[in-house]
Parts: sequence; C-alpha cells; structure tokens
Amino acid sequence: MSATQQPATSHSAQTNAQSRVEELRRVIQKASYDYYVLDNPTLPDEVYDRLYRELQELEKQHPELITPDSPTQRVGERPAARFNSVKHNVPLYSLENAFNIAEFGNWQERWRRVAPDVQSFEYVCELKIDGNALALTYENGVLVRGATRGDGITGEDVTQNVKTIRSIPLRLNLDNPPPIVEVRGEAFLSLEVFEQINKEREQAGEALFANPRNATAGTLRQLDSKVVAKRRLDFFAYTLQIPGMLSEGVQEEAPPAESSIAVSSESPGGQLGLFDGDGGQSPANGEFKIPQTQIDSLDVLSQMGFKVNPNRVLCKSLEEVGDYYDRFSTERLNLPYMTDGVVVKINSLSLQQRLGFTQKFPRWAVALKYPAEEAPTIVENISVNVGRTGAVTPLAELRPVQLAGTTVSRATLHNADRVAELDIRIGDTVIVRKAGEIIPEVLRVLPELRPAGTQAFQMPSCCPECSQPLVREDNEAVTRCVNVSCPAILREAIIHWASKGALDIRGLGEKWVLQFVKHGLIQTVADLYDLTIDQLMQVERMGKKSAQNLVEAIDRSKQQPWSRVLYGLGIRHIGSVNAQTLVENFPTVDSLAQAEMAEIASIYGIGDEIAQAVYQWFRVPANLALVDRLRAAGLQLASGADSIRPKTGGLVGKTFVVTGTLPTLKRDEAKALIQEAGGKVSDSVSKKTDYLVVGDDAGSKLEKAQKLGITQLSEAQLLELVASLKE
Ligand code: IVH
Repeated sequence: MSATQQPATSHSAQTNAQSRVEELRRVIQKASYDYYVLDNPTLPDEVYDRLYRELQELEKQHPELITPDSPTQRVGERPAARFNSVKHNVPLYSLENAFNIAEFGNWQERWRRVAPDVQSFEYVCELKIDGNALALTYENGVLVRGATRGDGITGEDVTQNVKTIRSIPLRLNLDNPPPIVEVRGEAFLSLEVFEQINKEREQAGEALFANPRNATAGTLRQLDSKVVAKRRLDFFAYTLQIPGMLSEGVQEEAPPAESSIAVSSESPGGQLGLFDGDGGQSPANGEFKIPQTQIDSLDVLSQMGFKVNPNRVLCKSLEEVGDYYDRFSTERLNLPYMTDGVVVKINSLSLQQRLGFTQKFPRWAVALKYPAEEAPTIVENISVNVGRTGAVTPLAELRPVQLAGTTVSRATLHNADRVAELDIRIGDTVIVRKAGEIIPEVLRVLPELRPAGTQAFQMPSCCPECSQPLVREDNEAVTRCVNVSCPAILREAIIHWASKGALDIRGLGEKWVLQFVKHGLIQTVADLYDLTIDQLMQVERMGKKSAQNLVEAIDRSKQQPWSRVLYGLGIRHIGSVNAQTLVENFPTVDSLAQAEMAEIASIYGIGDEIAQAVYQWFRVPANLALVDRLRAAGLQLASGADSIRPKTGGLVGKTFVVTGTLPTLKRDEAKALIQEAGGKVSDSVSKKTDYLVVGDDAGSKLEKAQKLGITQLSEAQLLELVASLKE
C-alpha cells in the first residue's frame, strides 16, 4: 500500500491523473476484496471513503480515464428500461435431488452403470446455497456480462445489477487472463439483510418477500441498480469454465504447457497476489495449471478474487459424504445464510465430462437435500380452487407460520380423499410441511386440540365458480369441473398463456383477465389477438394509455417462439422443459399435430403419459380450431432456423434402434447416450436403421434387422463407440 503515500510524479497533468487513478483503483479494489470477500477489513471506512471520492472526482475531470472495471462503475447512473434476454453459451442445468443417503447411493449406482470401468473416484461436497444462480462472463479478465439462470437456456442480462455485488470482482486477478472465462455461482442475501429488507418493506406497506431466495430474485430483477446496491447481495462462486479447458486441458495426463495461466504476484496472506504489487506489470510469480478437478477449480476461483464457500470437503466414499451431510444438518442452522442441502459433485472434471448430462440434469452431481421442515398452525378456513385443467383442489387457509424460511398461509389438501382421510376441520390445529419448491401441505391433524362444535368438511358438489355439477371419474382422485366455458378454467388458461415462461404478456395480470372474462371479451386465448383499444376502454378503470400498452404487449407476444406457444397452450404435463424437448423434435405445430403417439413417446424424456396427453390434445376439434386461429393471428407455430439447436456429435445422421434388456443401461439411458452424441433413436427397424443395439431377450426387431443386414451392437460396443467419439 506504499503507493498511496508517494504521489506519482509525472510530466503532464494527464499522465499524473492517469497514474493516480490507477493507484486509487488498486487500493480501493484491494480494500474492497479484503472487506467483502475475505471478511477481513484492512482500511478504515473514512480512508476508504476519501480515496473513493478522490477517484470519483478525478474520473469526473477526466472521463476518458473511466474503465468498465473501475470501482466507481459498480452502480449505474440511469435505471434500465428492461432486461434483455441472453442465451447461455452452455445451458444452466439444475440438479437432481436425493433426500437421504440411501437415495444418494442409488444415484451413485446409476452413474457407475454409465461408467462401469471407473474403479476409484472422489466427490466434492459443497453446501447448497439457497439463492439464485448467476452466469458471469469475463472477457480478457474484465466482467462483461452477468445473467440469471432463466429457464436454463435463456436468462436475463442483469450485468449492471451484478456489478453492484461487491464480492464479484470486476476484473479477475490474473496477469494473462484467457480471452473468455465463465464463472457460475449463487447470488444470495444473508439472513440479516433479508430480515432488514422485510422490515423496511413492512414499514413502507409493501408486500414482504417470502424467503431470501425470492428476495434475491426480486433484487436481481430490479431495474434501478442503485436500489440493488443498497440491498447488499452476496455471491459464492462454484463453477469455472474456460472454453477449451475440457477438450484440451483436462486429460488423464499432465496438461500441455499452454494451459497454465499466470496469477498476479503473491501477497503475504497466502492468497495469490490480489490487487497488490505494481498493478500487474511485474512478471507473475504465481502460476497455476488449468484445474483438472472441481476442488482445484474452487481454489482457482478463490485465487481469481471470488468468494468461495469455505465448507468444501473432498470425500472418498459414500460414508464420508454421509458424515458431511450429517454434520451440516445442524451446523447449517448457525450459518448467516440459507442452505437447503449439500451438492455432491464428482471431483474429476474428465469423469464429469465423460458422464455428461441427461435431458435435465448433470449425471456427475446431485443435490442431497435436508428433509422438509414441519410446524404446527391453525386452520382458519377451507376453500376450493378451480385450476386450469378444471381440477378442483381443496385448500387450507392457515394462520401464517414460518417454515423453511417462508411464511406459509395456505396449504394444499390435494383432493377429496385426502380431506376425508385427514378429517380436517376449520379451527383444527395441524402440522404443515414444506419441502423445497413443493407447495406446503397438511401432514396431519392434532385431534386432541380440536375445539368443540366443529363440523366435517364436505367437498362441494357444484363448481364454486360456474355452479355446474362437479365430476369425479372412477379410479380418479381428482374432482373436476368439466364445463368448457367455466370462467375459472378460462381465466386460469389465459393467466397461464400470459405468464412469464409462456407468451409473457406484460400488463395482462390476473385482475384484468378476471374483468375480460366477466365482460365476455374473451372466450379463448385467440380472442386476445382481436381485442381493440376501444373494447378495452369499456372495462372499468382501464384508461386509454393502459389499453394501448396492453394491445401492444399482446401484439408483441406474437414474436414469442413456438416452444413458448406450445407451453402456453396448457396441455397437461407440458411444462416449459417438455415443450422445449418437443419443439426440438417437432419443429412445426403440424408435424406435432400429425405425429403418431409412438413417435412422440420415443423421444427421450417424453414418456407414454405425456405423449398420450399431447396426442389427444391434437385430436380435439376445438383445439385444432384454436391452433388455426392462432396461426391466422400471426403467432409462431414453427421454429425459426436459429432456434433449433444444431445437432452436433459424431453420430449425426445415424439412426439407432434399441431392443431387448441391456446388461447395465436402462433403455432411456441408452437412448440418451445416442441422442447426446447426435444420433437419432427410432422405435422400429427399417431400411433407414443404421444400428440395432441388442440386449437379452430381443425379439422381432432383431429378426427384422438380421433380414435387412443391419449392423448390431452390444451395450459394450455402443459405449465404446460413444466414448471413442469423445476422444
Ligand atoms: S452446481 C450443473 N453447486 O442449486 C449444475 N449449484 O438445484 C450446477 N446451487 O441451479 C449447479 N449451491 O442455483 C451447484 N454449490 C453449489 C450450489 C448450487 C446452490 C443451486 C444452483 C442450482 C441449484 C440446483
């Protein structure tokens, strides 16, 4: 820090300013790192403030000296109008859950079946931080983009907000950074800050955030970065990606010499020279190799200037993972941030790469979650809700209770059978449970606390919204309203259509949908596209400006891609992930509408039940008429050339059929392996089939393949083929 005591001497005011600016930045960055990342303040607040103001002043006088990584650039001047969407270079997958060590054991068995030759391996246990994933991109060492996870494929560009997070370096602590570095991790709010935010919101009469995760998501999506800066978001980094690192750097042998990167010179604290020395001009004396393992990646992230959760442990066995999990089941309660489990990752990056991903999850990592939390509360009322599919769900309205960091005031009672089984009554004391993302549910009733004079709850026999009789089919637990013009069903269908993951029609909230349905302005989602400003202005409290904005927002939704339209249609079982999968295989609505059920079911990740729902939806004349109207209105019912993920991999153009029982792989796993390598999997053997993968008890398909002279592969040969493509 001696640099601050000796003002730089130079020949002109410009170079003088420049060197002073650089010096100030270095000192401020170092102080900031010590404070926010190491939690070890080294500079008194007043000194920091004075240096910061001096830098601000110099940059004001010399705006040409401002750089994007200057500490003054953490907070933007003007609020953003909206966030742009960004497509992730590598999708942000979520993790499969295991709820106990036995389920973890099952997961271990599954990945070992995919790589049966692997004898020894290690895991890294990390805490699962309950926040929001962020993908950070650094170009030549400078932070250029921060994006939210979004749906995993496309996120929102929240760079300006990300820059306000003090534990995220604006510049990596590397002398010769690779051109592109991508860092992923979890943005979160400490419990203390979360509680403080809610206190302030309560005072301001604003709705409270249900938990730190929601508060983090809400904060990241704030348009004004000044507000974000006040919220003191924090960040733990957990993944490092350097393009080429897996293909070149990660091998069983030592990496090539080019794969080392210089870290700035060493500082006294053992950390590799962060923001110290002479501004990175001196030759680096700290060099490191591109990491080969997750545990090394975490160290490298720390050296680069990130905050990395210290509770990371290398485990050599299932038992050691169990010990870590048990230890943190109680220790996590004393941590200043929320954790909801442990993330266990395979340590070797080359093994990670070999195992790859299923449709939804990496095979090399799993979330080992802690059990749901439970708490007692009182039933204040029991109501019923009619959903988009007409399903009538009984709900317990509860005296609000804190559960797993959330305030719970309603819980689902699922269906009539469950209500009868629980014999739940208004006034009862009940135990409610919340597990992760799942809606809270009533676990049991405490009959000894039941007040006198209560009555058993009866499910209504008529729809509470349209008064038509409710129907419950034999063998079905669900009671349904089957009136196609029930306003509740229509309302829910339109709300879903307009929702963020679907057509994302901003301004078309529940309040308006309710009004439009009541006024008979819309009978199907296609009617939205015929609404005029004049029509809308007849609705109570709708002004001209709002009507105009809404018509424009509806019009803009015509640009949403086909996958979102498909999701928006609200076909049973078709969430956004399944919609995306279907669209990748059926690039137009017509190809999907005409597909045979078996064809839909043969897609990896789409089972019989889902295929049946899709197939049947397109057999209902009213639905086909709806598709025609949407087409006429100009909605996207086909993938644009750029939205189909290009098929890559060594099996492109090859068609496989899998038959019989394979020794270790499940049928779906074999299909996934082939599809991930770019191949197509079909259900029936024809002249177009290139390979038949044969297991035990193969029948007619094998006979047919033999007749056609199609090449046969055993499971081992298939695995060999796929592995050879990766080399
Ligand atoms: S690794 C390919 N590590 O948990 C998957 N995730 O349920 C990469 N999370 O979306 C994720 N702490 O937002 C990983 N130490 C950790 C984590 C972590 C929290 C979140 C992350 C992810 C979600 C999955």
